[in-house]
Amino acid sequence: SVEKVHARSVYDSRGNPTVEVEITTEGGLFRAIVPSGASTGVSEAVEVRDGDKSHWGGKGVLKAVANVNDVLGPVLVKSGLKVTDQEAVDDLLIKTDGTPNKAKLGANAILGISLAVARAGAHEKGVPLYVHLRDLFEGRHDANKPFVLPVPFMNVLNGGEHAGGLLPFQEFMIGAIGAPSFFEAVRWNSEVYHILKKLAVEKYGPSAGNVGDEGGVAPNLTTAEEALDLIVEAINKAGYEGKVKIAMDAASSQFCKESKYDLDFKKQEDSSPSEWLSGEKLAQKYHELVDQYPLAFLEDPFGENDWESWSKFLAGGVKVPVVADDLVCTNTKLIARAVKEKAADTLLLKVNQIGSLTESFAAAREAYDAGWGILVSHRSGETEDSFIADLVVALGTGEIKSGAPCRSERLAKYNQILRIEEELGSKAIFAAKDFHDSYKH
Ligand code: PGA
Ligand code: ZN
Repeated sequence: SVEKVHARSVYDSRGNPTVEVEITTEGGLFRAIVPSGASTGVSEAVEVRDGDKSHWGGKGVLKAVANVNDVLGPVLVKSGLKVTDQEAVDDLLIKTDGTPNKAKLGANAILGISLAVARAGAHEKGVPLYVHLRDLFEGRHDANKPFVLPVPFMNVLNGGEHAGGLLPFQEFMIGAIGAPSFFEAVRWNSEVYHILKKLAVEKYGPSAGNVGDEGGVAPNLTTAEEALDLIVEAINKAGYEGKVKIAMDAASSQFCKESKYDLDFKKQEDSSPSEWLSGEKLAQKYHELVDQYPLAFLEDPFGENDWESWSKFLAGGVKVPVVADDLVCTNTKLIARAVKEKAADTLLLKVNQIGSLTESFAAAREAYDAGWGILVSHRSGETEDSFIADLVVALGTGEIKSGAPCRSERLAKYNQILRIEEELGSKAIFAAKDFHDSYKH
């Protein structure tokens, strides 16, 4: 059981405060740090921030820290619950908050405890975190079942809310789906990344090599085609034509205005509404991109409230998986709606969008039951905590996105999967081109 719960304010990769939680048991001390998004969905669980503009511009988390130290922590210690009983622990935390979106005590407070307790649970059982997480998810332990290692989709070119410049689309990722192992996939991606950086500087000047929030280069270009052409050239130069694919997160809620899409939203002057694209026109553009470029999937092609465009897009026979991030916010109810309305076929899973491990598992189950794929994801504000690396292996989703092969808060996750791959040896299968439905392995 839990002897002590302690939280403190530390910093994320953007230099903003975030919550770190420490759980002390007879077995030792176990930590977790909570990440934070920039292009957040409206239905995400609430991150409690202090709002006192005189400290950290209002972004302090001292209230959330106090909610752990003064409220949730004492309740958990008093409960005497076992750290291996993740569901009971998460239920207790959720009930203590009492709101549907964790607005009272904070998803950041609750998630920090939830993830640290999982680490304590793994230690108690004497197994690696990814084994414990899979046991929890599947409700049983199967020592003979192989683990699936994910294709790393690395965000090598940053736009949208994650970089300066005028590019409206947020993320351009590369995934080495033709690689024979995770180790090789990381090597291929990193080789492409370095060539891309050189090309960006040659074509767009020295500052084009500067990186955005997720470690990708951020040349000042304006269209998706320019970004895709540059990445295709880098892939081909590296010798991986047909073996490394590209994926896009449009994060289009950021430029969706009254069900229209303002691709000029980052320009200083306001654009005229007459130039905004309709959902249909934007869909047409995506269909063209899928035909012209080696795309692996499209994420958030339409705004979080524009359900109609999503459903129409799928009904129109799009040839790549369509990933729902802001649309469903790792929330089972919204996933169920998206399944019913055939709005997407892949869940973007971010633990802090829902705010506890047990609810993240429920979201994953909802998605798998519908035959969806699952892309496990970091946030743009990240830390050295590599929890999602173990999580993606536990869920066997076959795909993860954790930014570029640059900046250690991004590499922390890939490095942890490298360790897991080495530890598992022949008991690991690399998802490769089956990444979208590797759970069926
Ligand atoms: P965020 O970006 O963490 O800023 O929300 C990631 C994403 O949109 O997938
Ligand atoms: Zn996204």
